[in-house]
Amino acid sequence: MFFLTILLFSYFQMSHQIQKTTADGKEMLSNPRLVLVQGSLNVVMNQNVTLSCHSDSGSPPVTYTLFNRNWKVFTLKRPDWTPGLFNLTINSASDVGEYKCKAENNISGGGKYSNSLNFTLIEPISKPVLSSPTSQAKKGQNVTLSCLSENGSLPITYIFFKGRQSISPALKMQKREAAVIFLFINSSSDFGTYKCRAENSFRNNTKYSNSFNFTLAEKFKSTRSSTGLTSTMNAEEPENYVIYTEIEPLKPEEYVNFPVIRREDEKEKRACATVYSKVLIRD
Ligand SMILES: *[C@@H]1O[C@H](CO)[C@@H](O)[C@H](O)[C@H]1NC(C)=O
Ligand SMILES: *[C@@H]1O[C@H](CO)[C@@H](O)[C@H](O)[C@H]1NC(C)=O
Ligand SMILES: *[C@@H]1O[C@H](CO)[C@@H](O)[C@H](O)[C@H]1NC(C)=O
Ligand SMILES: *[C@@H]1O[C@H](CO)[C@@H](O)[C@H](O)[C@H]1NC(C)=O
Ligand SMILES: *[C@@H]1O[C@H](CO)[C@@H](O)[C@H](O)[C@H]1NC(C)=O
Ligand SMILES: *[C@@H]1O[C@H](CO)[C@@H](O)[C@H](O)[C@H]1NC(C)=O
Ligand SMILES: *[C@@H]1O[C@H](CO)[C@@H](O)[C@H](O)[C@H]1NC(C)=O
Ligand SMILES: *[C@@H]1O[C@H](CO)[C@@H](O)[C@H](O)[C@H]1NC(C)=O
Ligand SMILES: *[C@@H]1O[C@H](CO)[C@@H](O)[C@H](O)[C@H]1NC(C)=O
Repeated sequence: MFFLTILLFSYFQMSHQIQKTTADGKEMLSNPRLVLVQGSLNVVMNQNVTLSCHSDSGSPPVTYTLFNRNWKVFTLKRPDWTPGLFNLTINSASDVGEYKCKAENNISGGGKYSNSLNFTLIEPISKPVLSSPTSQAKKGQNVTLSCLSENGSLPITYIFFKGRQSISPALKMQKREAAVIFLFINSSSDFGTYKCRAENSFRNNTKYSNSFNFTLAEKFKSTRSSTGLTSTMNAEEPENYVIYTEIEPLKPEEYVNFPVIRREDEKEKRACATVYSKVLIRD
């Protein structure tokens, strides 16, 4: 019984060999494996990569052909069992995409094809631009900050900073769209210098934006009154008590009284008085 098992086992081993071997002792090729031996699948311009194409079994000589999206790129013949090595330099956007290789020996009829490898071109990001539709901000105002790198491979990860401190999580953008954050301007420290940083998978590629400052539209804390009138008092610098007034939109014929108090030494600072066009003022 034991002997029979050995015999059967040997038989299967042999028939397997016979399948792969022809009468003249030449071995059929197996499908080759295309492997990256140097470089990466995310490539940058002018990068060199080396691909290896190899059939694990099959009698030499073997001819290896490399294809990029069905275009023949290189052909080389190996006289022995060693793999075919292809050295490529990525010179243009057309050098990326899907690569395959084919192995042929003179009994393999049509050749055997490998797996594919996809190369993606990674471009460095350009300096991001930090902007806001509102350059002037008041305390109590909700403002937006946008950060966008015009160029560079996606996805791009953005992060916002106030001074040297990050004020947002990492925002990963899969599309070429600005990362946007909302800021509630709450204290004078919110008028600091903002920046953003952009980063993609290009190696060591981190770029900082221009700096952006909100200019102070007014220095006072707002308190909304029941009349819809917003009078502002300066909570932090009480000596600087110009009354800043902001009024909700009113019906055309309505009148509103409000005090405008201006300290003597403030009279020259005309820019401090903001007058809204929808407001009717009675002397
Ligand atoms: C890439 O290969 C080319 C030629 O094979 C060589 O001139 C160049 O220096 C190589 N570049 C790098 C970055 O290795
Ligand atoms: C590719 O480069 C390797 C060494 O990096 C070399 O051994 C091989 O011959 C080169 N292949 C071709 C096709 O130039
Ligand atoms: C197969 O290879 C052998 C040895 O390399 C060669 O003599 C023979 O002519 C080849 N046959 C074909 C069909 O290419
Ligand atoms: C390679 O990319 C092509 C087109 O972008 C896609 O159809 C194919 O599935 C990808 N192959 C692999 C192995 O990722
Ligand atoms: C983005 O790329 C285009 C085209 O290459 C170039 O004209 C433009 O100056 C680049 N923008 C930046 C901000 O680098
Ligand atoms: C600011 O405005 C945005 C959009 O209008 C809103 O989603 C956000 O909650 C607001 N934040 C504050 C603090 O009011
Ligand atoms: C504004 O600041 C005060 C004190 O710093 C804080 O308690 C409050 O939560 C802040 N409000 C917002 C909306 O950030
Ligand atoms: C922004 O404000 C800071 C002080 O808060 C100042 O040092 C810096 O120069 C300002 N930057 C710009 C671009 O105005
Ligand atoms: C790029 O980053 C790697 C590790 O992150 C570091 O070893 C290398 O020195 C950096 N290269 C440059 C040019 O900064």
